[in-house]
Amino acid sequence: MFYSTHNLKEYNTFGIDVTARYFARPQTVEEAKECLTKAHRLALPVFILGGGSNVLFTKDFEGLIISPAFMGIEVQDQTEDKVCVAAGAGVTWDDLVAWCVNRNWGGLENLSHIPGTVGAAPVQNIGAYGAEAKDVVSMVEGIYIDTLEPFRLPADQCAFGYRSSIFKHGLKGQTLITRVSFTLTATPQPNTDYGRIEEELQNQPDRSIQSVRRAVIAIRSQKLPDPKILGNAGSFFKNPAVKASLAKKIQEEYPNIPIYPSEIEGHHKLPAAFLIEKCGWKGVKRGNVGVHKDQPLVLVAFEGAKGHEVLDLSTQIESSIQQKFGIQLDKEVNVL
Ligand code: EPU
Repeated sequence: MFYSTHNLKEYNTFGIDVTARYFARPQTVEEAKECLTKAHRLALPVFILGGGSNVLFTKDFEGLIISPAFMGIEVQDQTEDKVCVAAGAGVTWDDLVAWCVNRNWGGLENLSHIPGTVGAAPVQNIGAYGAEAKDVVSMVEGIYIDTLEPFRLPADQCAFGYRSSIFKHGLKGQTLITRVSFTLTATPQPNTDYGRIEEELQNQPDRSIQSVRRAVIAIRSQKLPDPKILGNAGSFFKNPAVKASLAKKIQEEYPNIPIYPSEIEGHHKLPAAFLIEKCGWKGVKRGNVGVHKDQPLVLVAFEGAKGHEVLDLSTQIESSIQQKFGIQLDKEVNVL
């Protein structure tokens, strides 16, 4: 359960070759507490690593990495129209989605095929194709890293926002999530408004959530590189929220730029992929790293890439977006 000098190449989807001084994969809360107690005794920094699909390691980690292996999916409660499902933080996200979709319980199908684990889903409020984790998460349970005390946070106390939550801000680095509960619907109504879902559904036999799941998987597989083949962490940046006046000004120059609503008053969200493409980065390769040819929001790491090469490339992209559009991109990926 507790290893020293552990290679992390298999534990981050960029495939960056770095090591952790200590690495642990606890299967129970008791084991997690043991690991944390040991880390406290050795005064080690602690980092909780989910599926490693949203992290960029730029150097070896001189502390303890905990990769939670709390497994199991269970039905906690079921009525005629609602089902409450709880899953261990270590469950692979897409296994949970498949498990629920197979039972015809709706709410997760648009979030099909997102890499990572259940425990990471609420941290960055994962989202895709018009759905977000916050729409279905009901409770997040875990322990505080410092005190080992348990916590149970209902969704309305998680401060969910676009790719953000209390676990990334107010409680950043302070919690180890052990279990997440979801409220799903037993009478699913597919949500097919986003992008190409309707178009892709034409290739499916019906409009069931099983078909929506297949459609989402088809769209994602066409655009997003498979990290098993080409290192990447999905979207590297968030879509920026900019003042409505700036969005309008950019739209005057680029009439086909889509504009999305933002949760920030007086702001609109713009697709970072569009801005990056317009700065000429799409498909660009620099040494061992590059910008994906089909989805420029995705930075890719070829075999042998170092984390700092990806980071350098991201900095260059940020400054060209700043220069051309006056917009500062925020990273979605955690840089360590
Ligand atoms: N676009 C371009 N050029 C491209 C690709 C896209 O200009 O080569 C523009 C288009 O205008 C397109 C728009 O970007 O309409 C949006 O593209 P897309 O639908 O692919 O989504 P995205 O905004 O780039 C977000 C999420 C993805 C999620 C998709 C689908 C963020 C940071 N990313 O990307 O999430 O899968 O929507 O819902 O919000 C992730 O977070 O890792 C991730 C992959």
